[in-house]
Amino acid sequence: MFTLAHLSDPHLAPLPQPALHELANKRLLGYLNWLRSRKAIHARPVLDDIVKDMLEQSPDHIAVGGDLINLALGQEFTNALAWLDSLGGPERVSVVPGNHDAYVPVERDTGLGLWDAYMRSQVERDGFPYLRRFGKVALIGLNTGVPTPPFFSSGRLDHDQLSALEKLLAELGANENFRIVLLHHPPLPGLARWRHALREADALRDVLARAGAELVLYGHTHIQAITLLPARTGDIPVIGAPSASSASFALDTRSARYNLFRIQRNGDRWHCEMTGRGLRARGGAVTELERLVLSG
Ligand SMILES: [Fe+2]
Repeated sequence: MFTLAHLSDPHLAPLPQPALHELANKRLLGYLNWLRSRKAIHARPVLDDIVKDMLEQSPDHIAVGGDLINLALGQEFTNALAWLDSLGGPERVSVVPGNHDAYVPVERDTGLGLWDAYMRSQVERDGFPYLRRFGKVALIGLNTGVPTPPFFSSGRLDHDQLSALEKLLAELGANENFRIVLLHHPPLPGLARWRHALREADALRDVLARAGAELVLYGHTHIQAITLLPARTGDIPVIGAPSASSASFALDTRSARYNLFRIQRNGDRWHCEMTGRGLRARGGAVTELERLVLSG
């Protein structure tokens, strides 16, 4: 049995105080937005409760679905690295970037590059997609985070990533691996409004349908959702997670949560069960919210 925890969009708080020169771009709007509304939604005590419960479940691996930070400030990248280290270190944790992690262009050395150890293939392979293997379970990480104009949070997946993904899925599928694809943006058309959607969602859907996968995990919309994508090798559960720091409890699908996937081989089939754990109300305890068999 292999257990994977998927947690997304922590949007780490508190936000470091930006210097004036750091706000001379799209960050200014983002900062005002943070002060006006997002600051009240993304609560650090909520995230800390979610993480504590997740670590108590002792997952074999943790997948973080992007948007660790908010405005791509230098101090945020450093703070997020410390937070990742607190989850268990690069051997135990994988990360894909979200749009907020690429909010404005930032030098790699002082930006996303700080998280490289969490986004690196175990085998000789540079960049995205990365591949991490745990016996017959394979995790493929895509990078869809790009800087966008104000009021947009769309994602991009270039041709190189798409074709490398298809090749990896085909090779891994031929050897009966359990293939997990991790990305920030919803991978299928229709799961996000156009200003916020992955531009290449049609192409990615087609790659997944042709090559197959056993599980696809995303974040971005801050909504718990399950979609089944018909594929040549069988239906693929495509699962979106809400923000793990969400203190918005008006809708069950938007409250803070993470998902645990228990994966095991039974005879010639894979069995995968999902357990959602999270909060039902502010100040409550983290409890089991949902349990269902996804395959096998
Ligand atoms: Fe987000």
